[in-house]
Amino acid sequence: MRLSLRFVLPLMLVLAGIAYAIAPLVDQLTLRWFVRDLDMRSALIANTIQEPLQEQLAAGNKAKTVGFFRRITQDERLYAVGYCATPTSTALVSRSLPAELRCSELNRWELAGEHLLPSAQGPLHVAVKPMSSEAAPTGRLVLVHDMSFITRRSEETKRYVFYFFMGLAAVVSLITVIIAQLSWRGWMAGMQSLLRGEGLLRQPGSGAQSNLPEFKPIARDLQRLIRELESDARARDEDQITWTPESLRATLQGELRGEDVIVVSNREPYIHQRHGEQIEVQQPASGLVTALEPIMRACRGTWIAHGSGSADRDVVDRHDRVAVPPENPAYQIRRVWLTAEEEAGYYYGFANEGLWPLCHIAHVRPTFRSSDWDQYVAVNRKFAKAVVSEAKTKAPIVLVQDYHFALLPKMLREELPDATIIAFWHIPWPNPESFAICPWRDEVLAGMLGSSILGFHTQFHCNNFVDTVDRFLEARVDRESFTVSFGGKLTAVRRYPISIAWPPEVEMLQKTVPDCRSAIRQMSDLPPEHKLGIGVDRLDYTKGIMERFRAIERLLELKPEWVGRFTFVQAAAPSRSGIEEYQHHEAQVRAMALRINERFGHAGPPPILLKVEHHEPREVYEYFRAADLCFVSSLHDGMNLVAKEFIAARDDERGVLILSQFTGAARELPEALIVNPYDADQCAAALHLALTMPADEQRDRMRLMRGLVAEFNVFRWAGRMLLDAAAMRRRGRLIDKGKAAG
Ligand code: G6P
Repeated sequence: MRLSLRFVLPLMLVLAGIAYAIAPLVDQLTLRWFVRDLDMRSALIANTIQEPLQEQLAAGNKAKTVGFFRRITQDERLYAVGYCATPTSTALVSRSLPAELRCSELNRWELAGEHLLPSAQGPLHVAVKPMSSEAAPTGRLVLVHDMSFITRRSEETKRYVFYFFMGLAAVVSLITVIIAQLSWRGWMAGMQSLLRGEGLLRQPGSGAQSNLPEFKPIARDLQRLIRELESDARARDEDQITWTPESLRATLQGELRGEDVIVVSNREPYIHQRHGEQIEVQQPASGLVTALEPIMRACRGTWIAHGSGSADRDVVDRHDRVAVPPENPAYQIRRVWLTAEEEAGYYYGFANEGLWPLCHIAHVRPTFRSSDWDQYVAVNRKFAKAVVSEAKTKAPIVLVQDYHFALLPKMLREELPDATIIAFWHIPWPNPESFAICPWRDEVLAGMLGSSILGFHTQFHCNNFVDTVDRFLEARVDRESFTVSFGGKLTAVRRYPISIAWPPEVEMLQKTVPDCRSAIRQMSDLPPEHKLGIGVDRLDYTKGIMERFRAIERLLELKPEWVGRFTFVQAAAPSRSGIEEYQHHEAQVRAMALRINERFGHAGPPPILLKVEHHEPREVYEYFRAADLCFVSSLHDGMNLVAKEFIAARDDERGVLILSQFTGAARELPEALIVNPYDADQCAAALHLALTMPADEQRDRMRLMRGLVAEFNVFRWAGRMLLDAAAMRRRGRLIDKGKAAG
């Protein structure tokens, strides 16, 4: 409509201008026609009255002649008729003539051939005709016509011309607009199909290939140009995107057209537990879950996981699905059930007694049993089936999480060859020598290489993986593009440092820092100004909890002024307690806390408060906000999200983070106090530094760390992977098209 107006209005104006410009020309033309008519009319009248006039003149009766003239001029257009016998005589006239038409002037009028005479009542047409007779050989008849009717006619003509042009403008505009609309639609449809890669190669509406091979190069060039522009814009955009759930959702809609997103992990984000008659919903202590949960809320896909809660079966529908989060459902969990035997072999055995210690340098020997391996293969296959049954399309995007599913990418590739499989390894990847311990190393590597993209937290782990593949498989490794070609398929090995949701949920920060400080101190029987440290971990030997306690003991040895003035709260979520190594570790941790408390607890509150229990995220945030420092002392950790959660919790820009150099997070957060957890003296010094750090320095460090976590949040982590997956899908489609074109 806007387009039509933009076109029609100027056209109307132009035509009105034309009408206005040609009006004088029309005037002149019609005047010329009328003068010619009057000339002819005058000649006709002169001829007609010649005979009777000559008779009357011969009779010499002037009064009769004048009467004759008056009768003739009853004609409405004939203004006056006169006769001059000689240039000096007095004219015989029907009515008085203007002075310019005296008898002496008639000769000049006849010779000059002038016809128009302006007068008060309008222009007059003058015709002088010779009318000789024997008595008056120089007689002249003068016929004067009134031309005012011409002016009237000319005005009318002008009006008609104007109306004509306006009508013409309307008709032309209407036709033009209709044609323009039709061809614009056609052109747009053509352009759109061209951009989809079909344009110019198909007949509109027919769906058949057209015979326009000459357009193919143009279509290809256009497509290439658009792709270049798109990728340029994307590169610029990605740097400028503020990653939020909304921008992630928009990226998903835009780049992947809202395609089918499926997450697979062993641990589920919500566990339903039965307590007598009550069913309680628990969020497990898992970095993986912490990171992926907000992604799924944003993407609204399906999360396939092991249903491990005692009431999990009671709440699912007949497809084993349950909508979560319980308070505001945004996506589905599809639960997969495992037998005790499967769980023992796949989860406790191969994953957590084999791969977990294999990948973490924590000096716990991995144990590999063939019976565990068999269960691991069987459970990976079970999950592959679940993915196939949940996939809504032939080419879903499947995000395979962690070391529980090393074989799943290859199994999925066989079932869904067009799927985009992004596998993410949340734990470290060891060097080739260490990995060689695994009796099924080749199968594990081949399984992982079924993925389109394989992600690790750090470049160091990407390098280790590529080195391992290079060492043990017949694969082509390209270190320039960091891709591995194996069995005719390409896998991109990429670094995607994981993070947390930013900003944190409002409810988490609702209780003010002073309120959290006093509530936690009160609850723990600590004086109001007591210094507080916090550690939040699963009770896992890789977390360096014993090393942390040793550092606290060393602090109290070296700086006794902190005895009775400093307490460290260790929140330790029970984990994998079916495994002997974990039971042993828990016993050691408990014993150590007891020993240190006995040694230094006499002067007041105990130095260590060990809380071996599950803590919901809200409680953890309260501890973070109440503490003066947070100590993360992992012996080896892919990333460690506890460090980032502590930073997110401190919107007051206070608190000090002590961070192990063996975490992925240490590479991103140099403003933390970076320590070697095996060096008790160094850690004790860091604790002292943290406890005495001026508020200004705390703020400066915290501000920088908060800036980084805000920018590199988990939406960016997921967004980057999904954008790479989208680019890969586009490239794949082009290659397929190229192949089809021959
Ligand atoms: C690590 C692993 C996750 C796992 C989490 C909790 O972060 O990378 O895959 O979910 O530990 O361990 P759990 O065995 O309780 O799931």
